[in-house]
Amino acid sequence: MTSQHRPPLLGRAVRHEWLLDPDFVSVNHGSFGATPRVVLETQREWQRRMESQPGRFFRAILPDALRHAAYRLASFVGADGKNLAFVDNATAGCNAVLHSLKLTPEDEVLALTHGYGAVRNAVRHVAAQAGARMTEAAVPFPRPDADAIVTAIATALTPRTRLAVIDHITSGSALVLPLERIVATCHAAGVPVLVDGAHGPGQVTLDLTALGADWYVGNCHKWLCAAKGCGFLWAAPQRQADLHPVTISHGYGSGFLAEFDWTGTRDCSAWLSVDTAIDFHARLGGEALRTRNVALAAEAAALVARRLNSEQGTQGAQAGAMGLVRLPLSRVVTPVRSEHVRARLLAAGTDAPTHVINGALWLRLSAHAYNAIEDYERLAEMAASVLRGEGL
Ligand SMILES: Cc1ncc(COP(=O)(O)O)c(C=O)c1O
Repeated sequence: MTSQHRPPLLGRAVRHEWLLDPDFVSVNHGSFGATPRVVLETQREWQRRMESQPGRFFRAILPDALRHAAYRLASFVGADGKNLAFVDNATAGCNAVLHSLKLTPEDEVLALTHGYGAVRNAVRHVAAQAGARMTEAAVPFPRPDADAIVTAIATALTPRTRLAVIDHITSGSALVLPLERIVATCHAAGVPVLVDGAHGPGQVTLDLTALGADWYVGNCHKWLCAAKGCGFLWAAPQRQADLHPVTISHGYGSGFLAEFDWTGTRDCSAWLSVDTAIDFHARLGGEALRTRNVALAAEAAALVARRLNSEQGTQGAQAGAMGLVRLPLSRVVTPVRSEHVRARLLAAGTDAPTHVINGALWLRLSAHAYNAIEDYERLAEMAASVLRGEGL
């Protein structure tokens, strides 16, 4: 094998690329990502340019630079740059779509039981303001297959459903949902789809044009390792006319990009440095890295499940770069107990989110380039010790 074709070394060999504390077991990339030094450097350089001549920067440099970054990101996610605008994060992007709806009291907005809490709140709020209703599709769990997920969503659609809000990869339960089939099912029922893809970019390969959803919201600061505050909103061309940012500014009425590209004075350096994040992701393997992370998460979840004498929550095509393991507790599991277990893991030197799902407590682990199987051996030891302390 020539050095040109050798896959890049990962795990310990690349950990220095991040600022991660070597004494902490970092196995929770999924929550807030981790930004590598090289991206932070590019971000700082953009901030330096902004502050060296603010007036010139905002008027003469930013508009083109922003579009350049948006087009680069669009090509990474299989989209056309004119259909993609930056937003701060997935929460902001979902809010923009939800607040642009014109609901009536007869309408329903469908969300998933495993949907992200903040986005579910936004759905509930927008529905309540119009006197409409949020309805729910109950995601089967654990280890649902694609058929079971699609059936659950199809069953929850009604003639009143005006929108389905579908997570690409669920947060607490770490399920990669069969999006193509879900979009087709919703569209066949005449229901447009907002995809909450907070965990999509950089964890799975995206082709947004081919997917054909109505709106796709993504975070780049998670799996793509961009700087914090780098999210995007993709909108199908026919969905752009009625779409507005939550903050209305100068661009009002001048089109999707004019409205979203300027929502007031702000630091856009997280967006402008996204091309460095895309380059970095490619240098670490790109698609090969994404495949490797999924494989590592599977190996890690199997290891922790074995060590705890327990089971995994995801399987097959529904498993991504986050693994899920049930924490075997015999006593009643409540959200308060979940927080307690997470706090004890944190005190022990690691962070892994814990969620109550269908009455059981599940621990989520993440696998990214800087992780190696030893991280999960340590996680398993810590989890076992916390569980002993909990008296099971
Ligand atoms: C499915 C899902 N949606 C939305 C979010 C919110 O992301 P942000 O805080 O960047 O808006 C998350 C965060 O973990 C998530 O998992």
